[in-house]
Amino acid sequence: MAKESKKMKSEGTPLYTIPGLTVEQGAEIAALLQDRLNALTDLHLTLKHVHWNVVGPHFVAVHEMLDPQVDAVREMADTTAERIATLGLSPVGTPGALVADRGWDDYSIGRAGAIEHLGALDLVYSGVIEDHRKAIEATDDLDLVTQDMLIAQAGQLEQFHWFVRAHLETTGGQLTTAGASTEVEAKQQAGRAGVKRKSA
Ligand SMILES: [Fe+2]
Repeated sequence: MAKESKKMKSEGTPLYTIPGLTVEQGAEIAALLQDRLNALTDLHLTLKHVHWNVVGPHFVAVHEMLDPQVDAVREMADTTAERIATLGLSPVGTPGALVADRGWDDYSIGRAGAIEHLGALDLVYSGVIEDHRKAIEATDDLDLVTQDMLIAQAGQLEQFHWFVRAHLETTGGQLTTAGASTEVEAKQQAGRAGVKRKSA
């Protein structure tokens, strides 16, 4: 593909949409779903990146825990993209468009220990879930069928988030990543707590 090819965007008003919605409503829902499609595509790629880069104790457990999450999140991305198409617009799934449109940075951790990656993933999941919940609120008066899809996805994402957080939780119920505002901070806090636990 030529480098100068025009970046694709899922925007504009569709020529038709789902019966019972106006084309303007269809456009509004599709724009909101394109952002969720970007987040879900980014998430399943990031989870695979962690699957490949995790090292040290708990390697097998975390390496294997992540693949079903990758598959489930890929399925969510597929359903979301197909909902955009159903609304009469074109879902955009190319990497360049995703990077240009997303409002967050690339995952920042390379090779690292299992607990450290899980610390960083705690923040990744928090971001995706917070934005999914905002999309659920935004569809409340707009389209309950789209909302239903997002609610089902959020429930599954929240369970995966728990799988991650269960590794970071103390017996007193505190998260070792509490207060961390960046992936690097979360990784460091989770890693330090992991070392303390081993030597305790
Ligand atoms: Fe693999």
